[in-house]
Amino acid sequence: MTVLITGASGGIGYELAKLFARDHHNLVLVARSADKLAQVANELQTLGVSVKTVALDLAQPPAPKFLFDQLRRENVIIDILINNAGYGAYGDFAQMQQEDILGQINLNITALTQLTHLFLPAMVARRSGRIMNVASTAGFQPGPLMAVYYASKAYVISFSEALANEVRKSGVTVTCFCPGATHTGFAKRAGNDQSRLFKQLGAMSAEKVALDGYRAVMEGRTLAISGVHNWMVAESTRFAPRKIVTAISRWISEKSG
Ligand SMILES: NC(=O)c1ccc[n+]([C@@H]2O[C@H](COP(=O)([O-])OP(=O)(O)OC[C@H]3O[C@@H](n4cnc5c(N)ncnc54)[C@H](OP(=O)(O)O)[C@@H]3O)[C@@H](O)[C@H]2O)c1
Repeated sequence: MTVLITGASGGIGYELAKLFARDHHNLVLVARSADKLAQVANELQTLGVSVKTVALDLAQPPAPKFLFDQLRRENVIIDILINNAGYGAYGDFAQMQQEDILGQINLNITALTQLTHLFLPAMVARRSGRIMNVASTAGFQPGPLMAVYYASKAYVISFSEALANEVRKSGVTVTCFCPGATHTGFAKRAGNDQSRLFKQLGAMSAEKVALDGYRAVMEGRTLAISGVHNWMVAESTRFAPRKIVTAISRWISEKSG
């Protein structure tokens, strides 16, 4: 079995790679940093699995097709696709750099959708395969100060649930995995590490979150939220007026103290 994990040079993706390697899956790991990927590969190869790394910026439009073509040329069959790479940018939309707006859309939405579209048909033809799209609890409500990021994760949830339904009799499973705040390099890159969410409300460890994700994809669950508290918050947004949900979401994202 070979697993392709995007965003595997750190954070949740790296922890997922460890779990798959421990269970004897061969790996194809993708991220931008070739040096970090090489370190991860060296570490995980000691577990007796083969690890291939591809350093690519998936936010660049040709990258998903480039990756697919390279693996096809090398006869690498992907049994499990984990679309994990993603990032957020913090701040008022009006002031945000266009590069950050399009970067989030290109990575969180376009690359994820394109990779799914490229790898799914062969899985359906084999009547076997698993896809896990990493969304976020951010996808369950609007997110002032991270408007594009929250909206991109709402897309991932909606897309994945619809796709899971479309392929339900094909032998392929599609899982949407939703972590809440997690201790990784994500918040620093996003610029929301000083928010109430990360400073006051607490974040889960990447190891624990990855284990929840690993179980969810292997069980073929359609939607999985990591952490009971995150599940309660995500579910509660369905019953409260949307304006209030949005106002609370803003309060949580504002910088603490
Ligand atoms: N941490 C949280 O609080 C949290 C909460 C909910 C959901 N999530 C989601 O969980 C997923 C993983 O996040 P994380 O917390 O593990 O973040 P992270 O620690 O920042 O790791 C992100 C990974 O994606 C890679 N990556 C970033 N931009 C890329 C690009 N343009 N092309 C290819 N690879 C790229 C990074 O490697 P390089 O820098 O080497 O490219 C890294 O391996 C994301 O989809 C995120 O939205 C995170």
